[in-house]
Amino acid sequence: MQKRNNIKNDSLYEYYSAIEDDYEKKWKKKDFNSFISNQHNIFILSQPEPVGFIKARIIKDEIEIISILIDKNFRKKGIGKGLLNDLLSLANKKKIQHIFLEVSVENKVAINLYKKFNFIKIGERKDYYNLNGRNINANIMRLVLF
Ligand SMILES: CC(C)(COP(=O)(O)OP(=O)(O)OC[C@H]1O[C@@H](n2cnc3c(N)ncnc32)[C@H](O)[C@@H]1OP(=O)(O)O)[C@@H](O)C(=O)NCCC(=O)NCCS
Repeated sequence: MQKRNNIKNDSLYEYYSAIEDDYEKKWKKKDFNSFISNQHNIFILSQPEPVGFIKARIIKDEIEIISILIDKNFRKKGIGKGLLNDLLSLANKKKIQHIFLEVSVENKVAINLYKKFNFIKIGERKDYYNLNGRNINANIMRLVLF
């Protein structure tokens, strides 16, 4: 697990749960702590302002991004790019070959962000998400590092 230096796990949860959004249901403290206690999981909190995070997991020589989220009051300030750059530095250190993720085909903002980092669409999962009873496909995107 990666996190900001000098922040204890309890405060990390406080920061995580204070990030305002309607995008995803926040994990309960015990699920969050169980996630970050697994050495194959990655949680990076944005800095210096703790207003966004990226959650990911390492699977052999790949990283899967589980989610990236910036507080809705702090978007479009480069914080998402900063978090992806942090993830790339970590991937480099760990000699990761690919980073992959799923993103709703309707999430143009996130797709733009990933394209900016040279992620490429490699497939599509049908009806992967359900939003108020409506099925939405997911793009599978991958970044090849070396
Ligand atoms: C997607 C998200 C993480 C982007 O974070 P952010 O901090 O606002 O993004 P940044 O300011 O670093 O912008 C990075 C790039 O994303 C794209 N982008 C960001 N906001 C955008 C918008 N409103 N419209 C179009 N593209 C946008 C641009 O390509 C931008 O690069 P640029 O500023 O050089 O043009 C943020 O909007 C968010 O938390 N969304 C809700 C959760 C979500 O959808 N997560 C992705 C799930 S897979």
